[in-house]
Amino acid sequence: MTTVIAVTNQKGGVGKTTSAVNIAYYMAKAGKTVLLVDLDPQGNATSGLGVDKQELQSTMSDVMMGTKIIRHVIIPTEHKNLHLAPSTPLLANTEVELAGVQQKFTRLKSALESAADYDIIIIDSPPSLSLLTVNGLIAAKYVLLPVQAEFYALEGLGQLLETMKLVRKNMNPTLDLIGVLPTMMDGRTTLSNQVYEEIKKHFPGKVFDHTIPRNIRLAEAPSHGLPVGAYDRWSKGARAYKAVTKEVLDRVSQ
Ligand SMILES: Nc1ncnc2c1ncn2[C@@H]1O[C@H](COP(=O)(O)OP(=O)(O)OP(=O)(O)O)[C@@H](O)[C@H]1O
Ligand SMILES: [Mg+2]
Repeated sequence: MTTVIAVTNQKGGVGKTTSAVNIAYYMAKAGKTVLLVDLDPQGNATSGLGVDKQELQSTMSDVMMGTKIIRHVIIPTEHKNLHLAPSTPLLANTEVELAGVQQKFTRLKSALESAADYDIIIIDSPPSLSLLTVNGLIAAKYVLLPVQAEFYALEGLGQLLETMKLVRKNMNPTLDLIGVLPTMMDGRTTLSNQVYEEIKKHFPGKVFDHTIPRNIRLAEAPSHGLPVGAYDRWSKGARAYKAVTKEVLDRVSQ
């Protein structure tokens, strides 16, 4: 059975794409067949995997418009077991067009039915509680919530949890939070540790044991079109994502 995980937080720049790309990579490394769905018009997961957006004939925009099936959009990556459903800024238009369409909430869910032969599907969401994000929440079994270890980390999360509640009530009763991932941790600072404790208090039992440190290699890797594990596998960032991926897989199989 396919497990669908949406990496979501409506706040920008908290490490959604970095987490989606690197967890997808390490799951593929672990032998799972993985589809990474770029559901953000910024297309950062697409370029982060070294795909030239100019060259793309078909993207998630076509899927969300209902003009192509996802099979015709998916491309292999240079990493074994890891495929990508890419996106470009065109996806932003889709959002507007979808608004007037029936099944506007379930387009992605229906589309993913024809990708049911993957073990894992990871969705990278945009930084908003938009129609695209809601499509992700409805298509997913799990939400993975990256939270940047900074003073305002928890602000705005109430809104996301409220949206998840609504989605559960109306469309997707089994949607579950698989875990909260503190990102850009600066282990030496009191602030990072305070925020970490705060996050744990707020999400008892949900915070992963491993956290993601602030690490320059993680920021450099996308400019080389590579997951950090292929760019510098011994870096702190790479090891952290490898450890977190194991935790995610453990939680999936429970
Ligand atoms: N642990 C980290 N250490 C250092 N830099 C990081 C780390 N995680 C992410 N970054 C960098 O921070 C920026 C934001 O990260 P990322 O793109 O993953 O966030 P995002 O939540 O997907 O952003 P958006 O909301 O715009 O989609 C990127 O430049 C990324 O390379
Ligand atoms: Mg992103």
